[in-house]
Amino acid sequence: MAAEEDLRVRPTRPRLALVATAAVTTFALAVTSPATAQLPLAANGEELANAPGDAIYAASCANCHGLDGTGLPPSLLAFEEEVPDFTDCDFAAREPDGDWIAVAHEGGPVRGFSEMMPAFRGALTEEQLGRVMGYIRTLCTDDNWPRGELNLPRPLLTEKAYPEDEWVVELGVDLESDGGASAAYVYEQRFGPRSQVEIVIPYGWRSGGAHDHGHDDHDHDGHDDEAAGDGLRHGLGDVVVGVKHALHHDLDLGRIFSVGGEVILSTGDEGAGLGAAGNALEAFASYGQILPDDGFIQAHTGFEVPLYDGASEAFGRVVLGRSFTEGQWGRTWTPMLEIQLKRHFESGAATTLDLVPQAQVSLNTRQHVLANFGLLIPVTGNAGETARSVRLVTYLLLDWFDGGFFEGW
Ligand code: HEC
Repeated sequence: MAAEEDLRVRPTRPRLALVATAAVTTFALAVTSPATAQLPLAANGEELANAPGDAIYAASCANCHGLDGTGLPPSLLAFEEEVPDFTDCDFAAREPDGDWIAVAHEGGPVRGFSEMMPAFRGALTEEQLGRVMGYIRTLCTDDNWPRGELNLPRPLLTEKAYPEDEWVVELGVDLESDGGASAAYVYEQRFGPRSQVEIVIPYGWRSGGAHDHGHDDHDHDGHDDEAAGDGLRHGLGDVVVGVKHALHHDLDLGRIFSVGGEVILSTGDEGAGLGAAGNALEAFASYGQILPDDGFIQAHTGFEVPLYDGASEAFGRVVLGRSFTEGQWGRTWTPMLEIQLKRHFESGAATTLDLVPQAQVSLNTRQHVLANFGLLIPVTGNAGETARSVRLVTYLLLDWFDGGFFEGW
């Protein structure tokens, strides 16, 4: 039978294989002889064919993860790896079922985890593992925590509704005119089930005399009409500090809705075109909706009010995307098309429209290091004095809750 194949292909790990396939033998981990692999299997996938998730869990998972899901202490396990705590909502809620089924089916290494988390393919079907997930999901009893499925791919401009633990390095380069380049370091940290703080530290490079085209990523346009002179200017841009809170989330309906606010500090050099003339405030709302077939739509709208003598600005962004997986469990590619509208509230101001085709890709096995590449293409307002350039926009992202940058490759 298939379970025995598993035992044969991993002869160096008899204890582990035994647990993977005949996990009902509760103290299997204490068994050291490879001969035990030939013991009759007390429970296997076939006997568990119609068993409910909790029974499969008890038979196949509990001798490492504990009947209560908190994970057995190292003293009862024959390996060093820490077993995660499924009752800890802060950890469990953010992991989507798909990733967990991948880990249980293919074993820890499929997502860059330890091979002490065995592969159950051959012993349990995906459908059975789905039932196990249904049970594991009952172990976190606080449904205040938005589920990881609602953590949709991060677009280049649209603010996600999901509260995140991330750092992101963004880079934008004007491809036309003598515009410039900008980079930003973004740090996001969750607090509580539904809230997040964020800090954005931008840095800009501009060729002398160019007009400011704004830090597209954070919609903070400076007005540096006096900026002139030759040579490359560079320096800190306007630092942003923000908070976000998920007001509503519903996994069954596949949607999440958040509101937030930002303070934009005029830390940038206005004269060099790297910042605005004063501080500003921003309020926004963001929405994420899961669509069938790994599709999604996200929207982000808000307005920015300067605390100096300047015009307010409203913005709206919508992004449509779909994720594709290489093979069944591999790398994820997410092409997206983003649309951005902006309008200054001053007489004669035009509404600007940008299209941003882009693709996000997971770089490592754990899929917590991701990159996105896109082009910001101005559709209107691309002529005359204040013409905006086509811009290459990209980011590198680390979901730091899932591990350090060098883990899980
Ligand atoms: C032999 C012991 C063992 C058994 C049996 C076992 N696991 Fe695990 N599991 C582990 C270890 C160890 C880890 C932690 C791996 C790491 O962090 O590198 C883990 C991690 C996990 C994770 C967490 C992945 C993440 O996102 O952090 C999931 C999900 C999981 N196991 C599901 C299951 C399911 C479902 C079963 C039963 C069908 C099961 N495990 C049976 C040892 C086991």
